[in-house]
Amino acid sequence: MIEFSYQPATRLSDAEREAALVDPGFGKVFTDHMVSISWSREEGWHDAKVMPYGPISMDPAASVLHYGQEIFEGIKAYRHPNGDIVTFRPEANARRLNESAARLALPELPEELFVRAIEELVRVDEQWVPKNEDQSLYLRPFMISDESFLGVRAAEKARFLVIASPAGPYFTGGVKPVSIWLSTDLARAGRGGTGAAKCGGNYAASLLPTRVAQQNGCAQVLFTDTATEDQIDELGGMNLFLVRNDGSLITPALNGNILDGITRRSLIQLAKDRGLTVDEREVTVSEWREGAANGTITESFACGTAAVITPIGALKSEAGTIVDFGDAAPGALTMSLREELTGIQFGTVADPHNWVHQIVAANGATA
Ligand code: PLP
Ligand code: COI
Repeated sequence: MIEFSYQPATRLSDAEREAALVDPGFGKVFTDHMVSISWSREEGWHDAKVMPYGPISMDPAASVLHYGQEIFEGIKAYRHPNGDIVTFRPEANARRLNESAARLALPELPEELFVRAIEELVRVDEQWVPKNEDQSLYLRPFMISDESFLGVRAAEKARFLVIASPAGPYFTGGVKPVSIWLSTDLARAGRGGTGAAKCGGNYAASLLPTRVAQQNGCAQVLFTDTATEDQIDELGGMNLFLVRNDGSLITPALNGNILDGITRRSLIQLAKDRGLTVDEREVTVSEWREGAANGTITESFACGTAAVITPIGALKSEAGTIVDFGDAAPGALTMSLREELTGIQFGTVADPHNWVHQIVAANGATA
């Protein structure tokens, strides 16, 4: 197992940190340290360190800057009422990082090294894990190719980093229903592309339609397949669920174009534990529109690590409003699944599937 070296940072004072934790927003404030692990074809993974958070230097010819060979993850650390600090299903993120790595021709990172990197950072910056309700420490593990070479081929050098950012709700306004925007002409993924990988390029492709969405008062873009412009894939940074009036749920099947969300997977399990039916299948905008109009589809929500579960109040497009749940949003099942999942994560609800991974024990000992 690789040993981590430790280069201590000059920490923010307690008062400065507390001030930063009052209303951190999402992704704006960063903790004192970060993790870095280097990789090269000859040496494999090496030089693992916990070091001061700060700018990284790289050669202007580093391949990530030209060809976007980059992947990332999103995972949170939560403070429990008893003082424990935990994370949620980290091995699932580790596995997904490696699936993304395979697609982007980046090196695999041993799963235990991924989990260890998260643990090291959370332990050293544990005071940054918020105590306030609805806040957590968002961790952003990512991998970049940093070989200086302009030929277009997979890099022979890479670097894995983890940074951490205290976070409140992703959408300003808390758990209020959001409107989402149907993007028809602009896509983020297509057959054989990188839609199922968590790579920066997918998000770059979503920025223009997201700007259009925002100009139209919407918080996220809904992407469909490019052929029919009707079959739903997912949102720019979240998976989608629809709820039917019989209590069953529908979510687009993993079709190679969408991310295998860990929140999605967890909600499918929690719904099944309740005896609910979850259909993972093709879902269309037409079905959503008709179902919302005739009352068979009663709720919809977006889910992801950053978004947790966010109710969707309306779906809009250039052609006008397609779905409007009005006063019916947020729906009851949406909110009860949200409470159950966040209860497990924050330690107020039993964790029957052992999803919670302890990092710091309440008595101050490391787990
Ligand atoms: N889909 C996309 C495109 C995402 O960026 C995310 C966020 O990570 C998700 C879905 C949800 O995935 P997870 O629940 O693992 O955070
Ligand atoms: C996450 O939920 O971790 C994501 O990466 C999505 C993004 C909207 C921040």
